[in-house]
Amino acid sequence: MAWQGMLMFFSGLGRLPFNCQAMLHTSEQDLTAFNTLGLRARAQTLVRFHSQEQLPAISTLAGDHSSVFVLGGGSNVVLAPQLDCLVIKVETRGVRLLEERPDAFIVEAQAGENWHAFVAHCVEKGWWGLENLALIPGTVGAAPVQNIGAYGVELDQRFDSLTAWDMHTQKLVNMRAQDCGFSYRNSVFKQSKPGRWLIVAVRFCLPRPWCPVLGYPDLQRYPGLAADKTSLNAKQVFDAVCDIRRQKLPDPAVLGNAGSFFKNPIVPLETRDRLLAIYPDLVSYPIEGSGRCKLAAGWMIDRAGWKGRRLGAMAVHDRQALVLVNKGGATAADVTALADAIKTDIKNKFDVTLEQEPVAVS
Ligand code: EPU
Repeated sequence: MAWQGMLMFFSGLGRLPFNCQAMLHTSEQDLTAFNTLGLRARAQTLVRFHSQEQLPAISTLAGDHSSVFVLGGGSNVVLAPQLDCLVIKVETRGVRLLEERPDAFIVEAQAGENWHAFVAHCVEKGWWGLENLALIPGTVGAAPVQNIGAYGVELDQRFDSLTAWDMHTQKLVNMRAQDCGFSYRNSVFKQSKPGRWLIVAVRFCLPRPWCPVLGYPDLQRYPGLAADKTSLNAKQVFDAVCDIRRQKLPDPAVLGNAGSFFKNPIVPLETRDRLLAIYPDLVSYPIEGSGRCKLAAGWMIDRAGWKGRRLGAMAVHDRQALVLVNKGGATAADVTALADAIKTDIKNKFDVTLEQEPVAVS
């Protein structure tokens, strides 16, 4: 089936009768285990979203709250100790092959699926193309929000379309890439008011024949990978990416963290050249035809001497300076204190402004 049109509206799902509220069970909830930074946090009202029939009732419930927050895997959030907003925890499941075309596999996953498990499943099934995005924490539904990317592949390069529930109009909407406004670590979902969109399912377009993406320096250096592309398969790339990530990035189950805490800042080429004159080993990535480039924030934070440094209950990871880790019992205030100290120092030393990647929720 072809998913056509800019926006396709599904009708007949307006406000549901009062008794549909019964489908929702709300509760107070400790969210410490539901955020990968492991911050102590409580939601006053949490609702678990596990089936599309709940959507109208969820919208009605949202209308009774001043703000709403959609929680996926909790891997890109800094949670305040007490959340007064309505928290919607996405727990829908399901993966299916929608189409097997000569030029692509179209695969759909429900938003609550674990991202890494989904990637592993695709690799096993022979639906290749997502392997560079292995081991990224979080859920499928959260992946388009920040347009996740790693090791030379960004989600928008493998994106077909998604279905989202618009909390304002109370309708399911089909969105193609052009509707999602993807850019580096950004999308319309990240820019919209939190809780406006509830992503329900995401469809991926995995091109055939498969062509491995091995350009990222860590993959080029990886033993045995780039040598013979003809006999390579996606499982080997998947395994290499997992291995590289495990060497550099802490496992949130062992050491609380939110992955990269800052975006790599995008600056004019003049800024890079000014810095290169002082720091010849500065790491940067040109953005073709834009007159701008991305600076490696991890390199700058490392160079400023932050690697391994601790402030209160938070610290900078000792193997990747872009990652802040919870040494035990940290709160949102501890995270902000360390993040602000780093931002101020980078501004003073490099005259570059860092932007935080995880979303602060209160
Ligand atoms: N670097 C240092 N010291 C550090 C960290 C990095 O010198 O402490 C240098 C590295 O040697 C390298 C450069 O900085 O030359 C870039 O480092 P790396 O390859 O580790 O990637 P990154 O730019 O720091 C980005 C993503 C990661 C993603 C990797 C690989 C962002 C904000 N982060 O990190 O994403 O895994 O590239 O593609 O774009 C995440 O989002 O949670 C995440 C880990």
